[in-house]
Amino acid sequence: MGEQKTIVITGANSGIGKITALELAKMGHRIIMVCRNKAKGEAALKELMEISGNSNIDLMFCDLSSLEDVKRFSEALKDQVAEIDVLINNAGVMSHERQLTQNGYEMHLQVNYLAPVLMTELLINQLDRKGRIINLTSMAHRVGTIRFDDLNITRKFSMLKAYSQSKLALTLYTYQLANRLKDREITVNCVHPGIIVSNLGVYKDRRTIDFLTGKLKRLFTSESSGAETSIYLASSDQVEGLTGHYFYKKKAKKSSKDSYDLELSKKLWSYTRNLLEQEGYLNV
Ligand SMILES: NC(=O)c1ccc[n+]([C@@H]2O[C@H](COP(=O)([O-])OP(=O)(O)OC[C@H]3O[C@@H](n4cnc5c(N)ncnc54)[C@H](OP(=O)(O)O)[C@@H]3O)[C@@H](O)[C@H]2O)c1
Repeated sequence: MGEQKTIVITGANSGIGKITALELAKMGHRIIMVCRNKAKGEAALKELMEISGNSNIDLMFCDLSSLEDVKRFSEALKDQVAEIDVLINNAGVMSHERQLTQNGYEMHLQVNYLAPVLMTELLINQLDRKGRIINLTSMAHRVGTIRFDDLNITRKFSMLKAYSQSKLALTLYTYQLANRLKDREITVNCVHPGIIVSNLGVYKDRRTIDFLTGKLKRLFTSESSGAETSIYLASSDQVEGLTGHYFYKKKAKKSSKDSYDLELSKKLWSYTRNLLEQEGYLNV
């Protein structure tokens, strides 16, 4: 292995995040698993230590549906770790139900977008000079629209509307942040992992599974290959200095036209920053 890195990964107890954490632990890196549930987090920690043979794995807690908790976690992390090499914003939700967070935002909007943005902004100065930020987006961003007049999707809610909006927002943020950091060596990229049957809420619906495994079987990726791009971006020397890209299967690809829209990006960042500043979570 090259140099040992300190890698922070959210949603590390399940699905793609767990495999990503495991493979990076096998390489000998220091892993900080960020989970929201104590029992699930502890079970995954034990499994990862046993399989990887790496005991340099820590478990910390953060519930992204609470912005207070994101702030508390970011401060606790600063006390615990002097420098982070990689931040993987992996945790995410996809659910048929419209739910509100503790802060009153639509769940997809906050867990998949507002919370990882807040966490990233609060941890930027904690990143190593050549730090890497990796955001898990989705191909679903291609059908996303940013509904400034109804970001919380109060009218005609659908999972696809909410999920795709949150992933388009995260993709826009990835490019916006890469641009903001262009004079520094920190890189920011996003990933579509493929379609993987995981614990995402949508896969608890039998009809969805039957539809996907029947009609769209060829689109499916295995859990381990779903983690390969995150692992590659976190650990490979080949991507050093590469920033502001959308990766799929370890290759930079074009994302949607809207994701490169600079006016949209500016408007979204201004909205997001104001919201996080006004509520006292951020001071950029
Ligand atoms: N699977 C796919 O087909 C697919 C396709 C494109 C993109 N993605 C993206 O890939 C990422 C990983 O998804 P996955 O498929 O591995 O799903 P998963 O198995 O459901 O894992 C999601 C992780 O996020 C965590 N999480 C959910 N809500 C949270 C909250 N409020 N606070 C903190 N953590 C929270 C979950 O914790 P709990 O275990 O406690 O619920 C879990 O650890 C997501 O961002 C997803 O949108 C997945």
